[in-house]
Amino acid sequence: MGGAQSSPLIVERADGRVIATLDRPAKRNAIDQAMIDALHALCEELEHDPRTLILVGAGGVFAAGADIAELRERRAADALRGINAHAFVRIAELPMPVIAAIDGYALGGGAELAYAADIRIGTPDLVIGNPETGLGILAAAGASWRLKEIVGDARAAELLLTGRSVKAEEALRIGLVSSVHDTADLLPAAHAIADRIARNDRAATIATKRVFRAPRAEHPAVDLDAQAALFESPEKFRRMTEFLERRVGSNDRAGSEKGER
Ligand code: COA
Repeated sequence: MGGAQSSPLIVERADGRVIATLDRPAKRNAIDQAMIDALHALCEELEHDPRTLILVGAGGVFAAGADIAELRERRAADALRGINAHAFVRIAELPMPVIAAIDGYALGGGAELAYAADIRIGTPDLVIGNPETGLGILAAAGASWRLKEIVGDARAAELLLTGRSVKAEEALRIGLVSSVHDTADLLPAAHAIADRIARNDRAATIATKRVFRAPRAEHPAVDLDAQAALFESPEKFRRMTEFLERRVGSNDRAGSEKGER
Protein backbone atom coordinates (compact mmCIF):
# COMPACT_ATOMS: atom_id res chain seq x y z
CA MET A 1 0.00 0.00 0.00
CA GLY A 2 1.09 3.62 -0.26
CA GLY A 3 3.71 4.24 -2.96
CA ALA A 4 4.79 7.70 -4.01
CA GLN A 5 1.23 9.07 -4.13
CA SER A 6 -0.16 9.95 -0.71
CA SER A 7 -2.94 7.58 0.30
CA PRO A 8 -6.18 8.84 1.84
CA LEU A 9 -5.83 5.94 4.29
CA ILE A 10 -2.85 5.67 6.66
CA VAL A 11 -2.39 2.08 7.76
CA GLU A 12 -0.27 1.23 10.81
CA ARG A 13 0.38 -2.30 11.97
CA ALA A 14 1.35 -2.80 15.62
CA ASP A 15 0.77 -5.18 18.54
CA GLY A 16 -1.23 -7.62 16.46
CA ARG A 17 -3.72 -5.00 15.30
CA VAL A 18 -4.16 -2.53 12.48
CA ILE A 19 -4.97 1.16 12.87
CA ALA A 20 -6.42 2.74 9.74
CA THR A 21 -6.71 6.52 9.69
CA LEU A 22 -9.02 8.18 7.16
CA ASP A 23 -6.74 10.98 6.05
CA ARG A 24 -8.27 13.68 3.87
CA PRO A 25 -8.61 16.34 6.54
CA ALA A 26 -8.89 19.20 4.02
CA LYS A 27 -12.07 17.49 2.78
CA ARG A 28 -13.14 16.42 6.27
CA ASN A 29 -12.08 12.86 5.35
CA ALA A 30 -14.86 12.60 2.76
CA ILE A 31 -14.82 9.07 1.42
CA ASP A 32 -13.82 9.11 -2.23
CA GLN A 33 -13.02 6.29 -4.65
CA ALA A 34 -9.33 6.29 -3.68
CA MET A 35 -10.26 5.80 -0.03
CA ILE A 36 -12.65 2.99 -0.97
CA ASP A 37 -9.87 1.35 -3.01
CA ALA A 38 -7.52 1.62 -0.03
CA LEU A 39 -10.17 0.12 2.29
CA HIS A 40 -10.58 -2.82 -0.12
CA ALA A 41 -6.81 -3.38 -0.13
CA LEU A 42 -6.83 -3.33 3.68
CA CYS A 43 -9.72 -5.81 3.76
CA GLU A 44 -7.79 -8.12 1.45
CA GLU A 45 -4.90 -8.04 3.93
CA LEU A 46 -7.12 -8.61 6.98
CA GLU A 47 -9.07 -11.42 5.35
CA HIS A 48 -5.81 -13.32 4.87
CA ASP A 49 -4.21 -12.30 8.17
CA PRO A 50 -7.05 -11.52 10.59
CA ARG A 51 -6.35 -8.82 13.17
CA THR A 52 -8.47 -6.35 15.09
CA LEU A 53 -9.00 -3.18 13.07
CA ILE A 54 -9.25 0.28 14.62
CA LEU A 55 -10.76 2.92 12.30
CA VAL A 56 -10.12 6.59 13.10
CA GLY A 57 -10.22 9.90 11.26
CA ALA A 58 -7.53 12.56 10.98
CA GLY A 59 -7.98 16.17 12.04
CA GLY A 60 -10.78 15.86 14.59
CA VAL A 61 -13.27 14.40 12.12
CA PHE A 62 -14.18 10.76 11.49
CA ALA A 63 -15.62 11.29 7.99
CA ALA A 64 -18.05 13.92 6.70
CA GLY A 65 -19.64 11.48 4.30
CA ALA A 66 -19.13 10.09 0.87
CA ASP A 67 -17.37 12.60 -1.36
CA ILE A 68 -20.22 14.80 -2.59
CA ALA A 69 -18.20 16.02 -5.59
CA GLU A 70 -17.94 12.42 -6.78
CA LEU A 71 -21.51 11.59 -5.76
CA ARG A 72 -22.94 14.44 -7.81
CA GLU A 73 -21.42 12.95 -10.97
CA ARG A 74 -22.52 9.39 -10.30
CA ARG A 75 -25.49 8.02 -12.21
CA ALA A 76 -27.90 5.11 -11.85
CA ALA A 77 -25.37 2.52 -13.03
CA ASP A 78 -22.91 3.75 -10.39
CA ALA A 79 -25.57 3.50 -7.68
CA LEU A 80 -26.20 -0.11 -8.69
CA ARG A 81 -22.50 -0.89 -8.30
CA GLY A 82 -22.83 -0.11 -4.59
CA ILE A 83 -19.34 1.35 -4.39
CA ASN A 84 -19.45 2.24 -0.68
CA ALA A 85 -22.04 -0.38 0.30
CA HIS A 86 -19.87 -3.29 -0.82
CA ALA A 87 -16.73 -1.90 0.82
CA PHE A 88 -18.58 -1.45 4.11
CA VAL A 89 -20.05 -4.98 3.91
CA ARG A 90 -16.52 -6.28 3.44
CA ILE A 91 -15.35 -4.33 6.49
CA ALA A 92 -18.27 -5.59 8.57
CA GLU A 93 -17.45 -9.16 7.53
CA LEU A 94 -13.77 -9.01 8.50
CA PRO A 95 -12.98 -12.03 10.65
CA MET A 96 -11.73 -10.08 13.68
CA PRO A 97 -13.52 -7.21 15.43
CA VAL A 98 -13.61 -3.72 13.94
CA ILE A 99 -13.58 -0.74 16.31
CA ALA A 100 -14.65 2.71 15.08
CA ALA A 101 -13.11 5.47 17.21
CA ILE A 102 -15.18 8.52 16.28
CA ASP A 103 -14.10 12.09 16.95
CA GLY A 104 -16.17 14.90 15.45
CA TYR A 105 -18.35 14.41 12.41
CA ALA A 106 -19.41 10.98 11.19
CA LEU A 107 -22.00 11.87 8.59
CA GLY A 108 -23.59 10.06 5.67
CA GLY A 109 -21.13 7.45 4.41
CA GLY A 110 -18.91 8.26 7.40
CA ALA A 111 -21.71 7.23 9.74
CA GLU A 112 -22.36 4.13 7.63
CA LEU A 113 -18.71 3.15 7.88
CA ALA A 114 -19.02 3.48 11.66
CA TYR A 115 -22.22 1.38 11.65
CA ALA A 116 -20.25 -1.35 9.86
CA ALA A 117 -17.89 -1.61 12.85
CA ASP A 118 -18.59 -4.08 15.65
CA ILE A 119 -17.77 -1.57 18.38
CA ARG A 120 -18.15 2.21 18.27
CA ILE A 121 -16.70 4.67 20.75
CA GLY A 122 -16.67 8.45 20.54
CA THR A 123 -15.65 11.79 21.99
CA PRO A 124 -17.81 14.63 23.37
CA ASP A 125 -17.45 16.28 19.92
CA LEU A 126 -19.12 13.38 18.15
CA VAL A 127 -21.85 14.28 15.65
CA ILE A 128 -23.23 11.27 13.81
CA GLY A 129 -26.09 10.98 11.39
CA ASN A 130 -27.43 10.56 7.89
CA PRO A 131 -28.37 13.80 6.13
CA GLU A 132 -28.65 12.05 2.74
CA THR A 133 -32.31 12.86 2.07
CA GLY A 134 -31.33 16.53 2.27
CA LEU A 135 -29.01 15.89 -0.69
CA GLY A 136 -31.70 14.12 -2.68
CA ILE A 137 -30.44 10.58 -2.12
CA LEU A 138 -30.91 7.84 0.46
CA ALA A 139 -28.37 6.37 2.82
CA ALA A 140 -27.75 3.24 0.74
CA ALA A 141 -24.42 2.07 2.19
CA GLY A 142 -25.82 0.25 5.20
CA ALA A 143 -27.78 2.75 7.30
CA SER A 144 -31.18 1.43 6.24
CA TRP A 145 -30.51 -1.99 7.74
CA ARG A 146 -27.63 -1.54 10.18
CA LEU A 147 -28.87 1.50 12.09
CA LYS A 148 -32.03 -0.29 13.23
CA GLU A 149 -29.98 -3.28 14.34
CA ILE A 150 -27.96 -0.89 16.51
CA VAL A 151 -30.58 1.49 17.93
CA GLY A 152 -33.90 -0.24 17.12
CA ASP A 153 -36.55 0.40 14.47
CA ALA A 154 -38.29 3.42 15.99
CA ARG A 155 -35.15 5.46 16.61
CA ALA A 156 -33.60 4.50 13.29
CA ALA A 157 -36.75 5.50 11.41
CA GLU A 158 -36.85 8.87 13.17
CA LEU A 159 -33.18 9.53 12.46
CA LEU A 160 -33.20 8.40 8.82
CA LEU A 161 -36.50 10.05 7.92
CA THR A 162 -35.57 13.40 9.44
CA GLY A 163 -31.85 13.34 8.61
CA ARG A 164 -31.20 14.53 12.16
CA SER A 165 -27.69 14.08 13.56
CA VAL A 166 -27.00 12.85 17.06
CA LYS A 167 -24.46 14.28 19.48
CA ALA A 168 -22.32 12.33 21.93
CA GLU A 169 -24.66 12.27 24.91
CA GLU A 170 -27.61 10.99 22.87
CA ALA A 171 -25.42 8.58 20.91
CA LEU A 172 -24.30 7.04 24.19
CA ARG A 173 -27.84 6.92 25.58
CA ILE A 174 -29.27 5.13 22.53
CA GLY A 175 -26.35 2.73 22.22
CA LEU A 176 -24.95 4.16 19.00
CA VAL A 177 -21.60 4.37 20.79
CA SER A 178 -20.71 2.26 23.79
CA SER A 179 -18.50 4.85 25.52
CA VAL A 180 -17.37 8.47 25.26
CA HIS A 181 -13.81 9.61 25.96
CA ASP A 182 -11.97 12.91 25.88
CA THR A 183 -10.29 13.36 22.51
CA ALA A 184 -6.82 12.57 23.88
CA ASP A 185 -8.16 9.35 25.42
CA LEU A 186 -10.04 8.10 22.35
CA LEU A 187 -7.26 6.14 20.67
CA PRO A 188 -5.95 4.74 23.99
CA ALA A 189 -9.52 3.60 24.73
CA ALA A 190 -9.70 1.86 21.34
CA HIS A 191 -6.35 0.19 22.05
CA ALA A 192 -7.57 -0.91 25.48
CA ILE A 193 -10.51 -2.66 23.78
CA ALA A 194 -8.11 -4.25 21.28
CA ASP A 195 -5.88 -5.34 24.20
CA ARG A 196 -8.87 -6.93 25.92
CA ILE A 197 -9.76 -8.78 22.71
CA ALA A 198 -6.13 -9.88 22.25
CA ARG A 199 -6.12 -11.64 25.65
CA ASN A 200 -8.87 -13.98 24.45
CA ASP A 201 -8.47 -16.89 22.08
CA ARG A 202 -8.37 -15.60 18.51
CA ALA A 203 -10.28 -18.56 17.03
CA ALA A 204 -13.00 -18.14 19.68
CA THR A 205 -13.25 -14.43 18.90
CA ILE A 206 -13.50 -15.08 15.16
CA ALA A 207 -16.17 -17.73 15.78
CA THR A 208 -18.10 -15.40 18.11
CA LYS A 209 -18.14 -12.63 15.52
CA ARG A 210 -19.22 -14.99 12.74
CA VAL A 211 -21.97 -16.61 14.81
CA PHE A 212 -23.13 -13.24 16.18
CA ARG A 213 -23.59 -12.00 12.63
CA ALA A 214 -25.36 -15.11 11.33
CA PRO A 215 -29.02 -14.76 10.27
CA ARG A 216 -31.63 -15.75 12.90
CA ALA A 217 -32.70 -18.82 10.90
CA GLU A 218 -29.21 -20.31 11.13
CA HIS A 219 -29.26 -20.43 14.95
CA PRO A 220 -28.61 -22.56 16.88
CA ALA A 221 -27.00 -24.81 14.24
CA VAL A 222 -24.33 -22.23 13.41
CA ASP A 223 -23.52 -21.81 17.12
CA LEU A 224 -23.21 -25.54 17.66
CA ASP A 225 -21.02 -26.14 14.60
CA ALA A 226 -18.67 -23.39 15.67
CA GLN A 227 -18.59 -24.68 19.24
CA ALA A 228 -17.92 -28.21 18.02
CA ALA A 229 -14.81 -26.99 16.24
CA LEU A 230 -13.64 -25.02 19.28
CA PHE A 231 -14.28 -27.95 21.65
CA GLU A 232 -11.57 -29.86 19.76
CA SER A 233 -9.06 -27.02 19.67
CA PRO A 234 -5.79 -27.45 21.60
CA GLU A 235 -6.12 -23.87 22.82
CA LYS A 236 -9.43 -24.68 24.53
CA PHE A 237 -7.80 -27.57 26.41
CA ARG A 238 -4.81 -25.44 27.29
CA ARG A 239 -6.88 -22.51 28.57
CA MET A 240 -9.33 -24.67 30.54
CA THR A 241 -6.57 -26.80 32.03
CA GLU A 242 -4.68 -23.68 33.02
CA PHE A 243 -7.81 -22.35 34.74
CA LEU A 244 -8.51 -25.62 36.56
CA GLU A 245 -4.92 -26.14 37.67
CA ARG A 246 -4.71 -22.58 38.92
CA ARG A 247 -7.90 -23.19 40.88
CA VAL A 248 -6.66 -26.49 42.23
CA GLY A 249 -3.41 -24.78 43.15
CA SER A 250 -5.14 -21.92 44.91
CA ASN A 251 -7.68 -24.27 46.61
CA ASP A 252 -4.80 -26.40 47.87
CA ARG A 253 -3.12 -23.33 49.24
CA ALA A 254 -6.38 -22.14 50.83
CA GLY A 255 -6.90 -25.63 52.33
CA SER A 256 -3.44 -25.87 53.78
CA GLU A 257 -3.69 -22.32 55.13
CA LYS A 258 -6.94 -23.33 56.91
CA GLY A 259 -5.30 -26.51 58.16
CA GLU A 260 -2.43 -24.58 59.64
CA ARG A 261 -4.77 -22.45 61.71
N1 COA B 1 -17.81 15.55 0.32
C1 COA B 1 -16.94 16.32 -0.33
N2 COA B 1 -16.34 17.38 0.24
C2 COA B 1 -16.63 17.63 1.52
C3 COA B 1 -17.52 16.86 2.27
C4 COA B 1 -18.13 15.77 1.61
N3 COA B 1 -18.99 14.94 2.21
N4 COA B 1 -17.60 17.35 3.51
C5 COA B 1 -16.77 18.42 3.55
N5 COA B 1 -16.18 18.60 2.34
C6 COA B 1 -15.24 19.61 1.94
C7 COA B 1 -15.89 20.97 1.73
O1 COA B 1 -16.44 21.05 0.45
C8 COA B 1 -14.71 21.87 1.93
O2 COA B 1 -13.94 21.84 0.78
P1 COA B 1 -13.20 23.20 0.23
O3 COA B 1 -12.34 23.64 1.38
O4 COA B 1 -12.45 22.74 -0.95
O5 COA B 1 -14.32 24.14 -0.05
C9 COA B 1 -13.91 21.18 3.03
O6 COA B 1 -14.31 19.81 3.00
C10 COA B 1 -14.20 21.74 4.39
O7 COA B 1 -15.59 21.68 4.60
P2 COA B 1 -16.36 22.81 5.42
O8 COA B 1 -17.82 22.64 5.17
O9 COA B 1 -15.78 24.15 5.16
O10 COA B 1 -15.96 22.36 6.92
P3 COA B 1 -16.70 22.69 8.28
O11 COA B 1 -15.78 22.20 9.33
O12 COA B 1 -17.18 24.10 8.31
O13 COA B 1 -18.01 21.78 8.26
C11 COA B 1 -19.20 19.71 7.96
C12 COA B 1 -17.90 20.38 8.39
C13 COA B 1 -18.99 18.23 8.07
C14 COA B 1 -20.36 20.15 8.89
C15 COA B 1 -19.55 20.12 6.53
O14 COA B 1 -18.39 20.00 5.73
C16 COA B 1 -20.63 19.31 5.90
O15 COA B 1 -21.80 19.51 6.17
N6 COA B 1 -20.24 18.32 5.03
C17 COA B 1 -21.18 17.51 4.30
C18 COA B 1 -21.88 16.52 5.21
C19 COA B 1 -22.84 15.64 4.44
O16 COA B 1 -23.86 16.08 3.94
N7 COA B 1 -22.50 14.36 4.33
C20 COA B 1 -23.31 13.40 3.68
C21 COA B 1 -22.72 13.05 2.36
S1 COA B 1 -23.59 11.66 1.68
